[in-house]
Amino acid sequence: MKLAVIGCGYVGLVTGACLAEAGHDVVCTDIDADRIAQLQSGNVPIYEHHLDKVLESVRRSGQISYTADAGDAIRASEAIFICVGTPPKDNGDADLSAIDNVARQIATEARSSKLVIEKSTVPARTGLELRRALSAYSRNSGLTFRVVSNPEFLREGTAVEDFLHPDRIVVGVEDDSSAAQMREIYRPILERKFRCPVHEDACPAGPEAPLLVTTINSAELIKHASNSFLALKISYANALADICERIGADVHEVTHAMGLDPRIGGQFLQAGLGFGGFCFPKDLQAFVHLAGTVGVDFEILKAAERVNKQRIDRFLEKVHQALWVVKGKRVAILGLAFKANTDDVRFSPALEVARRMLAEGADVHATDPEAISRAEAILPQVAYHRDPYDALRDAEALLICTEWDEFRQLDWERVAKLMARRLVIDGRNLCSPARMRELDFEYFSFGRELVRSSRMEAAR
Ligand SMILES: NC(=O)c1ccc[n+]([C@@H]2O[C@H](COP(=O)([O-])OP(=O)(O)OC[C@H]3O[C@@H](n4cnc5c(N)ncnc54)[C@H](O)[C@@H]3O)[C@@H](O)[C@H]2O)c1
Repeated sequence: MKLAVIGCGYVGLVTGACLAEAGHDVVCTDIDADRIAQLQSGNVPIYEHHLDKVLESVRRSGQISYTADAGDAIRASEAIFICVGTPPKDNGDADLSAIDNVARQIATEARSSKLVIEKSTVPARTGLELRRALSAYSRNSGLTFRVVSNPEFLREGTAVEDFLHPDRIVVGVEDDSSAAQMREIYRPILERKFRCPVHEDACPAGPEAPLLVTTINSAELIKHASNSFLALKISYANALADICERIGADVHEVTHAMGLDPRIGGQFLQAGLGFGGFCFPKDLQAFVHLAGTVGVDFEILKAAERVNKQRIDRFLEKVHQALWVVKGKRVAILGLAFKANTDDVRFSPALEVARRMLAEGADVHATDPEAISRAEAILPQVAYHRDPYDALRDAEALLICTEWDEFRQLDWERVAKLMARRLVIDGRNLCSPARMRELDFEYFSFGRELVRSSRMEAAR
């Protein structure tokens, strides 16, 4: 089928690449002409595992193309995926102006009827507004625009795998023919008829993912309800970590045992610096806002948000407890991305930590395997190092802010020798307290024992 993707960010590029790999003819467009030029010349503007491989493969096979002219993309396609950003407004509501702009473009540029698929995360009832906008902007009453909500559940870092091997595909529709068309678009993925870039030999066997057909409102709600629930789980683990610290329990022991109960599950129970990124914080806010507009006080989600915001303060309390005075001290930050395996720094807790350290007058040195250039554009006052050992050389404190495996696998004996003082404040519970004790580090983490170095013990 001929498909268009509007918005070539994380979601748009993964959607375009994977649907092209599944055999569709995909044309991608973006308001950012530089981004389109980069893509046309074979460069991938974001870091996402496997994405470069898939984009190269579909570029060679001619299944994907890029244009800065949205009208061309709209006219060339039967179905259009809207993948533009929906950032938060000051009041927590989602800013839907990019969706509105795209609706106007589709309505004015289309010369035939289209299936318009809302893949961006939007509050419930946006689909109905989108349909109204499409007919209001259209100059040709002979055209019909059928709207579908197809929320995206991919996670940055494993986005290609998540798209090609989904747990479920949700399509919110208003008529059977839209559902049939969506099933046709996803058929190769449901039947696993694509060359999988993730699994070299064969993909692991498993049942076909369900394609759930719902109303548009339900589909939109499913996305917000899912993300908010996951955010709630993280905040629960974080509040639990605070209790563990006060009563001398170990949060890993507690959450591990909890997670073995299938009714609870072990994922998203990691204590630490809290969640960031372009999805959880804004989706949570938008859901609270939507609930408020229909007269429901979603108190439990407000509490999750509050707990999350306090994580940075809790982390900085540990920094102050350990360093006493921050001003003038050299501090190393390991990790800038909001989570591992992505270069995305939007709403990253690591950047907030760096900002606060700078504000207190620290000499901040930082590293990240993929996110340095994005962080540099936002915080040029930080000294960036590609090599983590250069970042932590002569540092008086090392702050772990992103859970990259590269940091877990550092040569910690070498780290101990390079630092001016053996002090680690671990915002992601990445290191083992036992190992840190062995190496005579002073080690702070969340919800676990405080490890004192021999010098600190002697000074007590
Ligand atoms: N990033 C994720 O992990 C993720 C996961 C699921 C859902 N989502 C949702 O998907 C949507 C996109 O997220 P993203 O992370 O890909 O954002 P992004 O900022 O990386 O990409 C958005 C792209 O849309 C382009 N754009 C904006 N307005 C445009 C317009 N009028 N016409 C054409 N292009 C336009 C931007 O230039 C940008 O390249 C958001 O609603 C987000 O909440 C994101």
